[in-house]
Amino acid sequence: MTDYDQLLEQSRSLLKGQNDLVANAANLSSLLFHSMEQVNWVGFYFLKGGRLIVGPFQGRPACVEIPLGRGVCGTAAETWEVQRVADVHAFDGHIACDLASRSEIVIPLIINQQLLGVLDLDSPETGRFDQADEDFLVRVATVFLDSLE
Ligand code: SME
Repeated sequence: MTDYDQLLEQSRSLLKGQNDLVANAANLSSLLFHSMEQVNWVGFYFLKGGRLIVGPFQGRPACVEIPLGRGVCGTAAETWEVQRVADVHAFDGHIACDLASRSEIVIPLIINQQLLGVLDLDSPETGRFDQADEDFLVRVATVFLDSLE
């Protein structure tokens, strides 16, 4: 089991003293990808020109553009609500980037009352993400957003 308190502390240390968006997104996606069990994609999409554009990530190559309201990421971006999907095949409009993905969680990133983008994690295991994972990822997202200020 991943020690989430420890991983949160590692995230803070990793981003400390740096406010560059790409640098921090790259390092955080790497840390999460290599520290969490049963994940096959961890990364960021950023809102650009009214669409989500893929940012730093770990995993297989991903779709570059996602319109708001489309797929799990676009739904999180449109509603500003965490999307925790136990079975991606049962999610209407899910965009399959890696055929191995079975479950997914997407955290919207809101800064100064505006949508910056989303943090997206995929797993090859159905129902991989529970409430504890969600709580942890929401806190990690806050660490990331705070680092940018
Ligand atoms: N499955 C996502 C697309 C992004 S990839 O998982 C990296 C979606 O439905 O929005």
